Amino acid sequence: MSDPIVRPGRSAEREVEGQKATPRHVAIIMDGNGRWAARRGLPRVAGHRAGAEAVRRTMQAAADAGVEVLTLYAFSSENWRRSEDEVSDLKGLMRFYLERELGTLQKEKVRLKLIGEPAAFGNDLYDRLSQAVEETKDNDRLTLVVALNYGSQAELVGAARALAERAKAGEIDPATIDIAAVESLLHTRDLPPLDLLVRTSGEVRLSNFLLWQAAYAELVFTDTLWPDFDEAAFAATLAEFARRQRRFGGR
Ligand code: FPP
Repeated sequence: MSDPIVRPGRSAEREVEGQKATPRHVAIIMDGNGRWAARRGLPRVAGHRAGAEAVRRTMQAAADAGVEVLTLYAFSSENWRRSEDEVSDLKGLMRFYLERELGTLQKEKVRLKLIGEPAAFGNDLYDRLSQAVEETKDNDRLTLVVALNYGSQAELVGAARALAERAKAGEIDPATIDIAAVESLLHTRDLPPLDLLVRTSGEVRLSNFLLWQAAYAELVFTDTLWPDFDEAAFAATLAEFARRQRRFGGR
């Protein structure tokens, strides 16, 4: 039997457990939609449309593999810098796929959860998203977390501000602020620790995604463009994860 591995838990407490071959929580930076479209002489929106089909395939593959949580970076807080037309296309696609896939989420027992600041997408889309979250809240096969208008630095600033407010109000002693206190204020507070973070399209950076949560995650960068990502590509990233020896700061 292999040595037990010390694994950071949700709080300052540390639990000891053996290495898991299948990650509980996988996050993906879905990159390369624009390049996929450009290579075909198509408009960028065609790449995003093909990217949404890759979301469908990957969600199914993750559920089939026994992954508990799949977190997808669908829109970063920096994506507002894109043209008005592209932002509008992305919002339209989200609305379309939400309506088309709600039945699939129910059938496959997928719980939808949002992180980030999705209210910025306007009442119409936000209300539909919130309704889908509510309708799927009891599903328990896979949790699909969609990061919308998400930025890790803003998330951490929010946590810092909340702790400062509590300290100012005399509710907490700043000296007692620990890792668990910060984690309890992150958007991911109800989720298992991140095990595997994947980025497609050959770019090798985190782009303000889950910076805190990635502290002990395994990182996998693949050249595959997101619209080409499929069951085989997902299986390959899980195989890469299974080959890694995780130490969590130990030896
Ligand atoms: C990155 O490719 C992709 C995005 C910014 C958007 C991701 C959106 C989807 C996959 C479609 C809808 C999502 C859901 C959840 C249904 P890029 O445009 O930055 O590609 P590039 O770097 O090649 O230009």
